[in-house]
Amino acid sequence: MTILKSKEDIRKIRESGNILKEIFEWIESVVAEGISTGELDRRTEDIIRSKNAKPAFKGYRGYPASICASVNEVVVHGIPSDDIILSDGDIIGIDIGVEKDGFFADCARTYAIGTVSEEARRLMEVTKACLDAGVKEAVSRNKIFDISNAIQTTAKNGGFQEVRAFVGHGVGRQLHEPPEVPNWGEAGKGLPLKEGLVLAIEPMINAGTRDVEIMSDDWTAVTRDGKLSAHYEDTIIIGKDKAERIT
Ligand code: MF3
Ligand code: CO
Repeated sequence: MTILKSKEDIRKIRESGNILKEIFEWIESVVAEGISTGELDRRTEDIIRSKNAKPAFKGYRGYPASICASVNEVVVHGIPSDDIILSDGDIIGIDIGVEKDGFFADCARTYAIGTVSEEARRLMEVTKACLDAGVKEAVSRNKIFDISNAIQTTAKNGGFQEVRAFVGHGVGRQLHEPPEVPNWGEAGKGLPLKEGLVLAIEPMINAGTRDVEIMSDDWTAVTRDGKLSAHYEDTIIIGKDKAERIT
């Protein structure tokens, strides 16, 4: 079952999206060499709560923080810590969910700290291009795997591999709703998209092998070969000719 949203639902999801837009503008201004991911987490939580909203990840299946902060070979779900201090040459994926008035939005960006390697820069560019390609297919004449295939194809053309251990998802009254939105698949297949369906599209792309391992904290997902990984995510509303990005 997919869940279509009313006008009022969409208005509320947009509000959560607007909070995320503001937070990521702030993140962009402070994410730099010397800051810890623990500090980013605390300050983000303060901003979310100041808007009478809730950090969607905190307590979700026992997740201990408000943001996921995934540095270098960490694919997703990196737990913030005062001991993880960003340095020149790092890349960091920051993923945040917000709940306001019972509706969720979900967003991730990857940032370069100082001067990063040519490979890191290209991986970030290709992963962003994967998200853009997926969003472009998020229209009501298409099917779910048209989004998936666009992401997969863009990753492949960039010489990288899409992660298959995690997928995008519907979003609304819950952080994760049906349908799943895989980052690979056969074009023209899967659930027909409908106007008003709200999805979180989130390519995770690895510089080397797609394979991941979960660390002993039961959350942190790292690349099996230790190479870099990048992650971008937007919450979008399916449209007739064009999807609307609300994050
Ligand atoms: N941000 C992830 C997603 O996009 C979910 C994070 S899981 C959590 O689906 F536990 F960290 F919340
Ligand atoms: Co998500």
